[in-house]
Amino acid sequence: MPSQNHDRLKILIRHGAIERRVSAIAAQISRDFRGEQVHLIGVLKGAVIFLSDLVRLIRLQSSMDFIAVSSYGKGTQTSGQVRLTKDLDRSIEGLNVILVEDILDTGLTLNYLLRILQQRRPKTLRIAALLDKPERRIQSVHADYVGFTIPNEFVVGYGLDYAENYRNLKDICVLSLGHK
Ligand code: IMP
Repeated sequence: MPSQNHDRLKILIRHGAIERRVSAIAAQISRDFRGEQVHLIGVLKGAVIFLSDLVRLIRLQSSMDFIAVSSYGKGTQTSGQVRLTKDLDRSIEGLNVILVEDILDTGLTLNYLLRILQQRRPKTLRIAALLDKPERRIQSVHADYVGFTIPNEFVVGYGLDYAENYRNLKDICVLSLGHK
């Protein structure tokens, strides 16, 4: 797919590798919760593609819901402010919740979401993050299932965007912004 303007895309993780990793995470979740049900909560919009692939590979009775927070907007720098912009549709009390995120960066978003969700008394609360950029961490947070640990680069594709572009790329790519 052509990049926008003069932005440059370099493949970091190919689709085949993503598929294999997502399948391994789904197998792990299926083992960890054998005989139980899981409730996946996707953080809009970046986690949508990851969640849709993951949930189809989990061999358990599964349900899903979505939550949205304000994040980067049009830039590549976080403001440090996290705000809930869409709440869950149903209660999570007593459920095995897996919070599904596209990328764990500063940790601010996940810490905020964990605080909110924990107050709602799920039976268990785990985190699945497709990507982890540990170099950028401001608040420590433990993800139970991590797809790939990546260097401190801005990435797009497989759900991740830059100003709403590139979410539909099959591979995860490093984006270098061009000058017009
Ligand atoms: P955190 O609160 O800094 O951990 O931010 C997590 C959110 O920032 C993610 O859910 C993404 O929406 C966004 N984000 C962080 N790094 C990237 C990136 O490299 N590409 C695209 N979005 C990113």
